[in-house]
Amino acid sequence: MTGDQGLFIAFEGGDGAGKSTQVRLLADTLRERGRTVTVTRQPGGTELGRAIRDLVLHGDHVSARAEALLFAADKAHHVDELIGPALQRGEVVITDRYTDSSVAYQGAGRDLGAAEVHDLQMWAVGDLVPDLTVVVDITADEGRRRRSGTHDRLESEADAFHEAIRQHFLSMAAGHPERYLVVAGTQPPERVHDLVVSRLEAMGVLDR
Ligand code: TYD
Repeated sequence: MTGDQGLFIAFEGGDGAGKSTQVRLLADTLRERGRTVTVTRQPGGTELGRAIRDLVLHGDHVSARAEALLFAADKAHHVDELIGPALQRGEVVITDRYTDSSVAYQGAGRDLGAAEVHDLQMWAVGDLVPDLTVVVDITADEGRRRRSGTHDRLESEADAFHEAIRQHFLSMAAGHPERYLVVAGTQPPERVHDLVVSRLEAMGVLDR
């Protein structure tokens, strides 16, 4: 738990998994239930974060360690400026991606070492771990099919990169089932949403 105030929920998964739809559906449901909800995404979500997002996703070649540090910088600033204060006010924060994305993409996908990237990320966010992380799971093949048009630097990587990332999300979830929910992203969005709400209800955090 993040303390006795606030509720912190992260959505993770490969590109094209449908995370953004789930973030929107959950924010609507929680607002209907009277909660104050802050929605954000990483990278981005703050002014500095948007500048970092542009650098890291749309720039030319970025070396693997620089990429990891830029994503970590985005998160450090994000937690200080936005997520931490909202949780202190007792709000719900829902983020589209968080530290696990870095562990998966930079650690596993880029071969920097998941443990090292995890430590870097935890340092950046001052050990702030979500109450619940929802992994919206799709295969690399399905993800590619769903991504249409222009791709950012990371989306353009080969299927093997995306499959490594997927396996990484699944193994992080398997390691801490009490704070993860894995849902098949091929199900209808409403069904995925119902599973997320049921899990939050089972955790007893929606009545707070
Ligand atoms: P995202 O915002 O989900 O992309 P889009 O808006 O195009 O759906 O994420 C952007 C990319 O950044 C995505 O490919 C995953 C990657 N990423 C990392 O590599 N490391 C990180 O720490 C984060 C947060 C994202």
